[in-house]
Amino acid sequence: MSGVNDIRSAFLDYFRKNGHEVVPSSPLVPRNDPTLMFTNAGMVQFKNVFTGLEQRPYSTAATAQKCVRAGGKHNDLDNVGYTARHHTFFEMLGNFSFGDYFKERAIELAWNLITREFGIDRDRLLVTVYHTDDQAFDLWKKIAGLPDSRIIRIATSDNFWAMGDTGPCGPCSEIFYDHGDHIWGGPPGSPEEDGDRFIEIWNLVFMQFEQVTKDERVDLPRPSIDTGMGLERIAALLQGKHDNYDIDLFRALIEASEEATGVAADNPEHRASHRVIADHLRSSAFLIADGVLPSNEGRGYVLRRIMRRAMRHAQLLGAREPLIWKLLPALVQQMGRAYPELVRAEALISETLKLEETRFRKTLERGLSLLSDASANLDKGDILDGETAFKLYDTYGFPLDLTQDALRNRGIGVDLSGFSDAMERQKAEARKSWAGSGDTAAETIWFELRDKHGATDFLGYDTETAEGVVQAIVRDGATVETASAGEKVQIVLNQTPFYGESGGQMGDTGVISTDHARLSVTDTQKKADGLFVHNAVVEQGSLKIGDAVALDVDHARRARLRSNHSATHLLHEALREVLGTHVTQKGSLVAPERLRFDVSHPKPMTAEELKIVEEMANEIIVQNTPVTTRLMSVDDAIAEGAMALFGEKYGDEVRVVSMGTGIRGGKAGKPYSVELCGGTHVGATGEIGLVRIVGESAVAAGVRRLEALTGEAARAYLSEQDERVKALAASLKVQPAEVQSRVEALLDERRKLERELTEAKKKLALAGDGGSGAEAVREIAGIKFLGKVVTGVEPKDLKGLADEGKKGLGSGIVAFVGVSADDKASAVVAVTDDLTTRFSAVDLVRIASAALGGKGGGGRPDMAQAGGPDGQRAGEAIESVAAALAG
Ligand code: ALA
Repeated sequence: MSGVNDIRSAFLDYFRKNGHEVVPSSPLVPRNDPTLMFTNAGMVQFKNVFTGLEQRPYSTAATAQKCVRAGGKHNDLDNVGYTARHHTFFEMLGNFSFGDYFKERAIELAWNLITREFGIDRDRLLVTVYHTDDQAFDLWKKIAGLPDSRIIRIATSDNFWAMGDTGPCGPCSEIFYDHGDHIWGGPPGSPEEDGDRFIEIWNLVFMQFEQVTKDERVDLPRPSIDTGMGLERIAALLQGKHDNYDIDLFRALIEASEEATGVAADNPEHRASHRVIADHLRSSAFLIADGVLPSNEGRGYVLRRIMRRAMRHAQLLGAREPLIWKLLPALVQQMGRAYPELVRAEALISETLKLEETRFRKTLERGLSLLSDASANLDKGDILDGETAFKLYDTYGFPLDLTQDALRNRGIGVDLSGFSDAMERQKAEARKSWAGSGDTAAETIWFELRDKHGATDFLGYDTETAEGVVQAIVRDGATVETASAGEKVQIVLNQTPFYGESGGQMGDTGVISTDHARLSVTDTQKKADGLFVHNAVVEQGSLKIGDAVALDVDHARRARLRSNHSATHLLHEALREVLGTHVTQKGSLVAPERLRFDVSHPKPMTAEELKIVEEMANEIIVQNTPVTTRLMSVDDAIAEGAMALFGEKYGDEVRVVSMGTGIRGGKAGKPYSVELCGGTHVGATGEIGLVRIVGESAVAAGVRRLEALTGEAARAYLSEQDERVKALAASLKVQPAEVQSRVEALLDERRKLERELTEAKKKLALAGDGGSGAEAVREIAGIKFLGKVVTGVEPKDLKGLADEGKKGLGSGIVAFVGVSADDKASAVVAVTDDLTTRFSAVDLVRIASAALGGKGGGGRPDMAQAGGPDGQRAGEAIESVAAALAG
């Protein structure tokens, strides 16, 4: 008898041997189909290959595909726990032909696998075909040798398979196993077909059509094959069990649950609870591993419903503490090898489960007691009022199906329309409150759209390409039905990989396209509590509400944004390490070209501090360790030391982004940077490449601004600097390493030359004719007078020059007028000490200044200075001083 893991491998090996490419399971959140909530069949990842839109390097494939059937067209949630074969999560084994083989080979491969490889008794097998499919009928006869009585024609949709309302589809043929007449039930098509005796094990779909819209069906380019065999079912059969929950994998999970609760699974009520827990553990864990987190809308809400349903059953088994997360190791042990994502996300899954259960337990018991009071007088066949069901939903966090599940054993239903009415009334109240909150009309439209369509499902943490459905088009502040070429519009989609600007990180740009239209997205903004709005220009074609569109984020730009955002976290932590924990974020801009980061710090940072901060951030980059994201309650996150960002509003649950391992101090060996952050980050720190601080400045009192570059931008910056040094070295004719000493030597030399030049000019000025035409020294009334117009001497040097002049005279008076290039004059008069009782330099310089058209002047009796606008009259100024001496 083989275990589940062996059967999965045997299936894939068989098809590999038969020329098929073994392709890994795609994620549970479909990347290529906006109409599907979760991947619900193996063919989902190949949808576009069937329709011919996408080419792959192989034409046949085999997979073991993770599937979730909860919410949407195929929804098994309500039955799980109470039947032998319903699951919210299961694995579908499948083989596919994309225009390669068709019916004959598909039947042959299937028949050989189950009868030869798996050794299933052929006498216990029977098949169905679509009622008009004579070809399939004949092939079964020929290949399997089945008698007519065991090839049953079915006219209903049971034998026409479709993925959803649209997509590839075709007639199908199902293989059934007869568990024997000790079990009640009849063959397919008979009145007793719902019994458990005849169990479908494999569905072979002969893909021939594509359902384009509800009314339009076209042929696929080439007939193809899609098959699906539930791994749990075939395992049950091969392990001689009738019930999927008795296979090895489920036994292990149920045993773990028995052990953790101390309650055996042998009575029917407890059995159901253990089964619910085992099944829901699988779907929750795999959904979280694929990026879904519990929330109040969309996929996140389906996950929350599944988790809470399991949690009620844990409570039924008497669990007093959060339970489900404790069973995770058993699941990882069973399935981690086949699905490594489970191992990678183990910490995230564990924390998410624990957090949800801790929070839900707070209201679960009170809700259950309200429910038991409200239903105390109800009997089998009665209906619980919608108001109470809504109150349980709204106040106690009971998803509707949890309430239904809780009443199920007693045969009591729930008034669904009363529930919806109560929900509608509450929404209307909420509308009133935001309509009156003073939002402008322009913003009100986003609240209306938010109300109508719910928050946008953001896929961009895991993918940068996806598909979405157009929910609204807004032009000039009003909703419209279509957008045509040339128009500027805002687009709302049910889901998007485009990041909406927040937390300082700029919104994504990229392309929205259909077969007929192309829009360039210039920005993405978040409005009205989780509505993502794509600002776009229609470049060609036209787009209308309801269109399914391909969404492509500008990958290169997003990669730069991610690097800059992660680098901001590293700088933040390094700044706190170097400057102190008073450093907090005061603002941040994460742009594709650079990052800007404002922090509280009272004084400019020194060059040394900047250098150390940069080095520390680069040390973590070089570690190249994965960046991890966890979902936690705000309180837990803060308790773990996560830094909360300035000005951000946090919900109950937050994303906590950690990167790097601390190297020194209290952080040694611990996560280096831990921050609450909704932004997008690199997968591993090494992707940042390099961070380089390029600016430090003041923004406001006590706030410093750092600017930095990462990756290619940092490299380009450094290389530009390097080129500059090289060019400098070439001009200086030295090696780059010698540039600094060479420049210092040149500066020294220059200072020396300047000094020499000044001296030379002074000498020149004193040595006779300086270009003024005035006599250098004359005697006036017995006093030696040196009066001279000097050029080429700085005003600041005139005094020194006058001192020299005094020395030369011994006793006398000196008057110099310097004229600048723009014809302004400055005058200096100096009087030797022996004469200061008779002449004041101040009086004399004022006379000179007046001649130059100026006023005033000042100094001491032995040395005074003044200016004047009219340099042309410099000679006159000298003469006016001479005249004053002459008396
Ligand atoms: N796609 C087919 C199914 O899900 C095989 O049953």
